[in-house]
Amino acid sequence: MPHAAPLEPTILVIFGAGGDLTWRKLIPALYNLYLDRLLPERFAIVGVARKHLDDGAFRRRLREGVDLFSRRGPADEVDWDRFSAHVAYLSDDLNDPASGPALSQRLEELERTWGVRANRVFYLAIPPEMVEAAAAHLQRLGVCRDCQRDRLVVEKPFGRDLATAVALDRLLSGMFAESQMYRIDHYLGKETVQNILAFRFANSLFEPIWNRRYIDHVQITVAETVGVEERGGYYDRSGALRDMVQNHLLQILCLIAMEPPISFDADEIRNKKVDLLRAIRPIRAEEVHYSAVRGQYGKGTVNGRAMPGYREEPGIPSGSITETFAAFKLYIDNWRWQGVPFYLRTGKRMPARVSEVSILFRSAPHQPFPAAAVENWQPNRLVIRIQPEEGIVTRIQAKQPGTRLQLGPVDMQFRYQDAFSVAPPEAYETLLLDVIRGDATLFMRADQVECAWKIVAPVLDAWESVPPGDFPNYPAGSWGPEAAELLIAHEGHSWLQHTLQEDRK
Ligand code: BG6
Repeated sequence: MPHAAPLEPTILVIFGAGGDLTWRKLIPALYNLYLDRLLPERFAIVGVARKHLDDGAFRRRLREGVDLFSRRGPADEVDWDRFSAHVAYLSDDLNDPASGPALSQRLEELERTWGVRANRVFYLAIPPEMVEAAAAHLQRLGVCRDCQRDRLVVEKPFGRDLATAVALDRLLSGMFAESQMYRIDHYLGKETVQNILAFRFANSLFEPIWNRRYIDHVQITVAETVGVEERGGYYDRSGALRDMVQNHLLQILCLIAMEPPISFDADEIRNKKVDLLRAIRPIRAEEVHYSAVRGQYGKGTVNGRAMPGYREEPGIPSGSITETFAAFKLYIDNWRWQGVPFYLRTGKRMPARVSEVSILFRSAPHQPFPAAAVENWQPNRLVIRIQPEEGIVTRIQAKQPGTRLQLGPVDMQFRYQDAFSVAPPEAYETLLLDVIRGDATLFMRADQVECAWKIVAPVLDAWESVPPGDFPNYPAGSWGPEAAELLIAHEGHSWLQHTLQEDRK
């Protein structure tokens, strides 16, 4: 949607311009924003990395990424030429105190040509351990000082644990104002994740039943078929808990379980999320075993293709004990959710790429039907499909056609692709545009990040102090280790088959 007020001239500087994120996500997103005429009239993208490269070679590489990963498919020649005229490359070493003037000069040149002090966005698309050096570099150059105009985008994971997140935050807050910081979790930019707020708070239908009286338990699954691709080096230092649970899964949990906000003001939404995170019952060290399960895939088959085990993937040490699967059971100690289990699981090399939230409702208090009529009875459930085939599915009981009284489950479905004729933007399109506009609603605040680390900290500690004896403990192409089934079976529950699989039966 075009925005009423024209956007101010903006220079986007991407540190880590040679990396995967820039190639697969950032440039395709910026290109699509350009095609949708959503970027400011005067904008420039400056890619910064160590390697020596000229603008032409840099643009050719980016074009390949757009052709492969843009939601609109391969780029049109003319459009690409117009867009790429805004893109330049700069070789710079963040760790070299002598380097940098070239960046300041480039910014000043652009601004001189435009005749204005532009908004400057510095996007740190770099590994977490380089964030400090990049921030110090910006500080040295003095190019990110204007609290209104200059912004810093930091990718998750923010820190490696609670202590490093606090230390990093202290360091960054000594250099930049909180209003300049955009801590990105791309799940928050996904249409369906944002729709959770619309679904819960724009409809009066659901809020009255959104509590412990009616909801039996909640399951959040984020499953991927991919392994670690070319990111073995990063992933092996991270693992599923740091890579997915501490951020994406807890953010989804926040949106599902938070209290209604009084406005859509960035801080109001973030306050409500922090309240929710603070209400999550801390996992005691001696209970980690009952509350969390880890796994690592061995070789197996995904979609009919043989896959290597995690330890055979490129860049992964043969004795790696990094988890590629994590499942959690959490409780929220507040009036709304007391006693309702929330089960979270995520893993790589699962049988299907699917992210969905399933809300399982309690049984009807009384069954007036004869026993034979309810043989196929199932409790109501509501499934929010985040990806793919985004939508919402409600399972209800209906009388099956026929002369006998026989009840059976049927699904009412809302699918994005059927309901709306336009393709939704990619998460990074939404989020990059928000940074350019200066809207931090979908970004994480420091206290939110810290609360999320506190929740996973006991599990991190326990897992680090006792190495897993049974890795690999699930074959590629399965739904994770058996212990994940037991985790949820304790309360008499079982992981749901995801709804896509059921549809396709
Ligand atoms: C990233 C993780 O944040 O999210 C990756 O670092 C993961 O390991 C990815 O593959 C999943 O994102 P999406 O949008 O494909 O679900």
